[in-house]
Amino acid sequence: MGNIVTAINLRKYFPIVGGVFRRKIGDVKAVDGVTFTIKTGETFGLVGESGCGKTTLGKTLIRLLDPTSGKILFDPEGNLPEDPKIGERINNYDISSIKGRKLKSLRRYMQIVYQNPSTSLNPRMLVKDIVAEPLVVQGLAKGKEAEERVLQILERVGLAREHLYRYPHEFSGGQKQRIAIARALITHPKFIVLDEPTSSVDVSVRASLLDLFKELQKKMGLTYLFISHDLSMIEAISDRVAVMYLGKIVEIADPRELFNNPLHPYTQALFSAIPIPDPEVKRERIILGGEPPSPANPPSGCRFHPRCRYAKDICSKQEPALIEVKPGHYVACHLY
Ligand SMILES: Nc1ncnc2c1ncn2[C@@H]1O[C@H](COP(=O)(O)OP(=O)(O)OP(=O)(O)O)[C@@H](O)[C@H]1O
Ligand SMILES: [Mg+2]
Repeated sequence: MGNIVTAINLRKYFPIVGGVFRRKIGDVKAVDGVTFTIKTGETFGLVGESGCGKTTLGKTLIRLLDPTSGKILFDPEGNLPEDPKIGERINNYDISSIKGRKLKSLRRYMQIVYQNPSTSLNPRMLVKDIVAEPLVVQGLAKGKEAEERVLQILERVGLAREHLYRYPHEFSGGQKQRIAIARALITHPKFIVLDEPTSSVDVSVRASLLDLFKELQKKMGLTYLFISHDLSMIEAISDRVAVMYLGKIVEIADPRELFNNPLHPYTQALFSAIPIPDPEVKRERIILGGEPPSPANPPSGCRFHPRCRYAKDICSKQEPALIEVKPGHYVACHLY
């Protein structure tokens, strides 16, 4: 299996302006130096507290936001070179600063599904036009041909011809999300960011959407970045999971390993909040002390150190690197 997306030391800062002269007085460091690779065909889960930078990372990877620095390697064929250090060749795949027509033609391969279809779908457009929009914008099809393709994709997501000439408000939450999924799929993308795609629907609908994502992935050869703060959902759908804390990735592992053997003290605290079904097994509930710090002014060294119960001297001084401590299990912590 090859790789489809690689982020190298990727950063996305939002300027903070203030004062009478509206000058820049600082930065919100929403994504602050992350390096990781997403394998072709996998579901890469991304978890972390609200505000830690998940959405910003997802949008930056697909160039809906311009990165502040770092590289994004993307190969629609899913054959990125394994070792991103191989100099010249990686520049052929670097999409971090492409613009204009080049960027536009890549958009068809990278799509996003947002949390809330009620705000992401234009209420004044017919379903057939909402779903066809990316095709038209990309100049890939129009008129009858576009409509045929819309119909095909609607059927794939569990909708039908009778839905073409309706408006979003005529649908349930789950159906609206299916429309949003159809729109994301219409250009036959390779990589899709699913940003909390089931958190606006009922639990009963959630399972059917998860099944749909799995089925579409298999049939259409998709790779997902699946963002959620629902850990049980992340476990159910992901092949590998990254844990994010204040703009950094602190741990990456496959979900079972992460749940059974979380290494980073933050991951341990995060997972200690999930109830275990077996009453014989007791898990200590770890309450995180202190306030979640601000990404405008992150703590020195390891960003988690002010809330960490194992913090030692070095933790406030030196930032830990993300290292592979066992095959496929990466952690950024001075304990290891
Ligand atoms: N357009 C923007 N301008 C300024 N700051 C922003 C912008 N978008 C996000 N931020 C800030 O960047 C940080 C990360 O936000 P982001 O939305 O990426 O977090 P998140 O992990 O997706 O949170 P949630 O789980 O609540 O969706 C937050 O401090 C947020 O306030
Ligand atoms: Mg978000």
